[in-house]
Amino acid sequence: MSSTPVLFCADPLNPRAVDGHFAPEARQVRASGGTVALIDHDALLAGDAERAVARVPRGLGAAWYRGWMIPTDGYAALDLALAARDARLLVPPEHYRAAHQLPGWYGTFAAVTPASGWLPTAPGVVPEAAELARVARALPAGPGIVKDYVKSRKHEWDEACFVPELTDVAGLRRVVARLVELQEEFLAGGVVVRAFERFVGEEARVWWLDGEPRLLTPHPDSDAHAMVTPDLDQLRGPVRDLGVRFVTTDVARRDDGVWRVVEVGDAQVSDLHRATAPEEFAALLTDAPPSTSGNEA
Ligand SMILES: Nc1ncnc2c1ncn2[C@@H]1O[C@H](COP(=O)(O)OP(=O)(O)OP(=O)(O)O)[C@@H](O)[C@H]1O
Ligand SMILES: [Mg+2]
Repeated sequence: MSSTPVLFCADPLNPRAVDGHFAPEARQVRASGGTVALIDHDALLAGDAERAVARVPRGLGAAWYRGWMIPTDGYAALDLALAARDARLLVPPEHYRAAHQLPGWYGTFAAVTPASGWLPTAPGVVPEAAELARVARALPAGPGIVKDYVKSRKHEWDEACFVPELTDVAGLRRVVARLVELQEEFLAGGVVVRAFERFVGEEARVWWLDGEPRLLTPHPDSDAHAMVTPDLDQLRGPVRDLGVRFVTTDVARRDDGVWRVVEVGDAQVSDLHRATAPEEFAALLTDAPPSTSGNEA
């Protein structure tokens, strides 16, 4: 049985080559006999899905995607454009959305992740104070963090991420306004407000394939020498319930010793820590069966 092909992002300066950030992984896919095809990520994000798939061989069939994050509507457009070439994404758009955006995975993981609420909002639009107050009231009083449905501004922690007191609505709105401003047109989906929990030690990234934890790496920002080994027992149920084939969970230990999920992601677009061997990652993609029972044939 030949392995599932992988669609990588092309190098913007050399459309026949894989983007340098993902090239080591693509090399390993090829080395193990896998098929690599290329998409134009810039064209996709510019709204031209047809041009984005122009180099995808016709009849490729179901493929993994591996590359930079794609907004959920762009991912759906990619799948549609692939269909016209007799190809498709192995992870369907609705599964991508479920793993990629917090509102998609939160319900399934509510018991193991900080309490959260959200408000859909367009880029550049700061939600009204009354709406933010409604979201904050459903969370425990005390500190919080804000982000969009996908990403935070953690590098602008004090001005655009951390909220010292969620009951201070003016303070909350000030941080949200800065988040919205800094995210510019890239604000994904809307604004998420989360209760702040005290984590100790580094964050680990767990890579799940078909409901099994297959690879444990440091979070990309973490110190590989301080790698932690999380307890995964509480996560198996939620990961299986989410039902997305290839996901990451970023986990950290809370100061009371309980392991918590900081966030879930679609593993196709999760970054790999620089200390992780690309062949370990590539093996996940190339060894995976093209479909699982219960999935599409
Ligand atoms: N509820 C929370 N309580 C305490 N700390 C948090 C909370 N949420 C996020 N953080 C801290 O902020 C960091 C960034 O948050 P998060 O991972 O949700 O955003 P991100 O922008 O998607 O980050 P990345 O994609 O780089 O992992 C986390 O790594 C964690 O250290
Ligand atoms: Mg994170």
